[in-house]
Amino acid sequence: MPVITNIDDLKKIYRRRVPKMFYDYAESGSWTEQTFRENTSDFSDIYLRQRIAVDMSNRSTATRMIGQDVSMPVALAPVGLTGMQHADGEIKAARAAEKFGVPYTLSTMSICSIEDVAAHTEKPFWFQVYTLKDNDFMQRLFDRAKAANCSAAVITVDLQVLGQRHKDLKNGLSAPPKLTVKSIADMMTKVQWGLGMLGTKRRFFGNIVGHAKGVSDPSSLSSWTAEAFDEALNWDRIREFRKMWDGPLIIKGIIDPRDAREALNVGADAIVVSNHGGRQLDGALSAIRALPQIMDAVGDKIEVHFDSGIRSGQDVLKAIALGAKGTYIGRAYVYGLGAMGQEGVTKALQCIHKELDVSMAFCGHTDITKVDRDILMIPKDFSGDWQA
Ligand SMILES: Cc1cc2nc3c(=O)[nH]c(=O)nc-3n(C[C@H](O)[C@H](O)[C@H](O)COP(=O)(O)O)c2cc1C
Repeated sequence: MPVITNIDDLKKIYRRRVPKMFYDYAESGSWTEQTFRENTSDFSDIYLRQRIAVDMSNRSTATRMIGQDVSMPVALAPVGLTGMQHADGEIKAARAAEKFGVPYTLSTMSICSIEDVAAHTEKPFWFQVYTLKDNDFMQRLFDRAKAANCSAAVITVDLQVLGQRHKDLKNGLSAPPKLTVKSIADMMTKVQWGLGMLGTKRRFFGNIVGHAKGVSDPSSLSSWTAEAFDEALNWDRIREFRKMWDGPLIIKGIIDPRDAREALNVGADAIVVSNHGGRQLDGALSAIRALPQIMDAVGDKIEVHFDSGIRSGQDVLKAIALGAKGTYIGRAYVYGLGAMGQEGVTKALQCIHKELDVSMAFCGHTDITKVDRDILMIPKDFSGDWQA
């Protein structure tokens, strides 16, 4: 067993163990992948201030996200097709999250269904919905989430149309994978993955197949997106969704201060500053560069969460110090899941927790809820000085 000390170690194992089609699906951004790359690289433009001779004992990373206790401000982001990265992937990831005391967010586009994840976990999880045209189907999704005891709904608002990832088209991404000479040859080298898949019946979009009407090809993410997603989405429609769900609500996918101000009128409990991990608008500002402007616009009026680009506890610390009350990791836990199943997700959370805890201490803090911008050195032009 190799010694795993960071997220990149998990990524290397993940790459060896999971078919190329699903590795590429996760490890890509849209078009040139500029935003995907800068989401991670821009974190290194922010520096942390080290302090010494401060009592660093009795530290705590515990806090709250939308009023719910979390052992650290890091949730697992909604990730479609997680059950293709590892057999029963959503159940494995949700179990790792509940044991660690952090929220798990199940995607609409999951392989395991809402009911299935609920039946195999003990604590409530969060459910993410996309903004779909079919009102009945939307209401049923919310009702199913309620019946499954989900403790929050996350509405993802940045996917009216789908950003193109070249590799998914070239690989013919589908769930389950279509059997071609190329895909069979690749899967034959991924023995553990294949045995896991043979041993499970969960290989289709569990929330959609058998629930949605008129989906002509339920194995294809792109055909479902083209048919079901609402290109005409507007704020009134988002307010209608608010009425469909009476529990805590999070609006995910805000990257512009003007949209953040609009989101205040929806009655959400939190927004997530996110560019979908660089998978939608290529050429958009990295999420960490966008965060300070959004904090300035709405940070005192609504709980702000953050994702896109987090690969370490230091990244989490920077986002929290900028004012985010919580963060989400997407790929960082998918690497762990693909590498080692539930144990790998736990490992990813452990790596990030340790980095967060020790870096916080180096910065002279013992309580994550007290960390603020004081620990950061941010270049004056970090968020850009743009022409009007
Ligand atoms: C493979 C993959 C699938 C995703 N599927 C969804 C999804 O179904 N719903 C959603 O709201 N976001 C989805 N996202 C975006 C994540 O929720 C999150 O915003 C993103 O992964 C954060 O960036 P990071 O991967 O750099 O942490 C997906 C991201 C990835 C990498």
